[in-house]
Amino acid sequence: MERGSGFGSPMMVALAVLVFAMVVMVPEVSATRWTVGSNMGWTSNVNYTIWAQGKHFYNGDWLFFVYDRNQMNILEVNKTDYESCNSDHPLHNWTRGAGRDVVPLNVTRNYYFISGKGFCYGGMKLAVHVENPPPPPTASPLDEKSGSPSSIFRSQYVLPTVFAIGALWDAFVRFW
Ligand SMILES: *[C@@H]1O[C@H](CO)[C@@H](O)[C@H](O)[C@H]1NC(C)=O
Ligand SMILES: *[C@@H]1O[C@H](CO)[C@@H](O)[C@H](O)[C@H]1NC(C)=O
Ligand SMILES: *[C@@H]1O[C@H](CO)[C@@H](O)[C@H](O)[C@H]1NC(C)=O
Ligand SMILES: *[C@@H]1O[C@H](CO)[C@@H](O)[C@H](O)[C@H]1NC(C)=O
Repeated sequence: MERGSGFGSPMMVALAVLVFAMVVMVPEVSATRWTVGSNMGWTSNVNYTIWAQGKHFYNGDWLFFVYDRNQMNILEVNKTDYESCNSDHPLHNWTRGAGRDVVPLNVTRNYYFISGKGFCYGGMKLAVHVENPPPPPTASPLDEKSGSPSSIFRSQYVLPTVFAIGALWDAFVRFW
């Protein structure tokens, strides 16, 4: 009984499988934590509409707000209050006090954030559209239309792992 003959030595097969599994798994485990405003942080004089442009925010990602805790804050509001910079009735006050707050984007919807204390009027406001991650591949994992390689594998790593362990075991048994 020779299974998998023609692929080279069992160790080579095991190595190839391991490399394949690692390539598949790495993008997998990481939902994105977005630092709002990148290295500028959450502050005045940044246009957050431009910052958010072209980015894809997926369900499961986080926003990380870094700001001057003595001046700014971070309030989630509805669309109307985002547009009018009204901070009188926030949907959620994400301000914890350290000037470093993480907001989970765990619902597929639009999120609106502003800073109170007058800063919203100067442009300190952020709207993000949170979408579902692209569907996992069905027939062809390398289908280019499905999206970027880093995103198509987001929700499946169990199968490659099982496959890798199985193949490693098989190679191990046959080699020795
Ligand atoms: C936002 O909240 C305000 C005050 O609660 C309300 O008047 C307004 O209609 C709401 N806007 C939306 C889009 O829900
Ligand atoms: C938000 O929460 C922080 C920390 O609990 C508190 O100091 C602050 O007054 C709150 N801001 C608003 C607008 O509710
Ligand atoms: C999303 O996260 C918030 C804050 O941690 C939590 O209160 C809420 O229950 C979560 N919603 C879902 C749908 O997981
Ligand atoms: C940010 O940039 C957008 C797109 O160029 C523009 O429409 C918007 O008015 C700007 N916002 C502020 C606060 O300057």
